[in-house]
Amino acid sequence: MPPDPSFAPTQLAARAAYLLRGNDLGVMTTAAPLLYPHMWSWDAAFVAIGLAPLSVERAVVELDTLLSAQWGNGMIPHIVFANGVDGYFPGPARWATSALAEHAPRTRHTSGITQPPVHAIAVQRILDRAKTRGRSTRAVAEAFLDRRWDDLVRWHRWLAECRDLRGHGRVTLYHGWESGMDNSPRWDSAYANVVPGTVPEYQREDNKINTDATQRPSDLEYDRYLWLLEEMKAARYDDELLAKTMSFAVEDVFVSAIFSVACTVLAEIGEDYKRSPADVRDLYRWAEKFRAGVVDATDERTGAARDFDVRADRWVATETVAQFAPLLCGGLPHDKERALLKLLEGPRFCSHPDLRYALIPTTSPVSRDFRPREYWRGPVWPVTTWLFSWCFARRGWSERSLALRQEGLRQASDGTFAEYYEPFTGEPLGSMQQSWTAAAVLDWLG
Ligand code: SER
Repeated sequence: MPPDPSFAPTQLAARAAYLLRGNDLGVMTTAAPLLYPHMWSWDAAFVAIGLAPLSVERAVVELDTLLSAQWGNGMIPHIVFANGVDGYFPGPARWATSALAEHAPRTRHTSGITQPPVHAIAVQRILDRAKTRGRSTRAVAEAFLDRRWDDLVRWHRWLAECRDLRGHGRVTLYHGWESGMDNSPRWDSAYANVVPGTVPEYQREDNKINTDATQRPSDLEYDRYLWLLEEMKAARYDDELLAKTMSFAVEDVFVSAIFSVACTVLAEIGEDYKRSPADVRDLYRWAEKFRAGVVDATDERTGAARDFDVRADRWVATETVAQFAPLLCGGLPHDKERALLKLLEGPRFCSHPDLRYALIPTTSPVSRDFRPREYWRGPVWPVTTWLFSWCFARRGWSERSLALRQEGLRQASDGTFAEYYEPFTGEPLGSMQQSWTAAAVLDWLG
């Protein structure tokens, strides 16, 4: 058998840069060449993080494209469609946001839902990279901040005000896709209560591209995903109506933790670059409120975080990566935080004896919901590794951060830049040439 390919860091970085260039349509980078031929919101933020060490100027363009599709209410949509590109379902015709949604942009086609708010992290990475460059590059990054500061604050304000109507400091989602973790066991019970009515006929595209059914969500799951679109269309994507009518409504603890961190990061940027003190105050207030919301969602004994199913009015505890949300944003008492770190680093997660790399599987291998090949139900996602590694560095846990980076790079050294990996064998799964996997590698090596 030929040896596994294993690229040295310089080769790997060169290949990652080449990949991003290949996926670049000009002013947007597709999330992946075939499976995701458009711009996805949180992918775009990570892509910008990966582009920043190559070209601050190009990284800024990526975020400008995304923000130029921001909705009038402040929402950053989860997909910005590339003009004239087919091959992804549901496309613009199925979402029909331009026709139905008051706040949808008129000049771009977008989806009608949102995704995790990691964008402030990208802005900070870009500004930090720019500081190491010449004056003209710094000026490009600062001009971007001048141009987009209000949009970024509007985005955060929309999440804080329109997606936390109960005022608990947790972001409510109306579709599993909004979590980014589409088919995670976290959403099984909420989806079980979604009873699809008549779903207009449709043809999946994803399973024509990835033909291995064990790697993608099932048809049954897709029927529910598509039914929720019909519910949203009936509500014309109106924030208040969605809150009343959607049959899927969950408070996502992981997105809430990301939001808390992102608010702190944006507030810090605001302070550094002398933005309006009122904005900075709001951002710190939201950071604190959502941190408290995450802590309130934790198990008394273990510190593990839970989601809340608004429709069923109950907490949902799953053995998934979302349990570790408080490690991202902080706020747990010391003993609970230690217990949670022990869980993360113990045999139910990173030290499970059969893991190929000491990384965080999306679902614990000991959970009965675990499926090692199936999208967010078990595989290791490099972008999640990046997020934890970055947050841990921020929290001052440099050894933990470096360990994740090192293992993440070992995994990525196969050079496939896979969307996700089988945790036991290290087999690359999902889409190959995934932009955000390349971006994670570039940031680590940059
Ligand atoms: N991740 C979804 C998909 O697989 C959409 O956001 O198509």
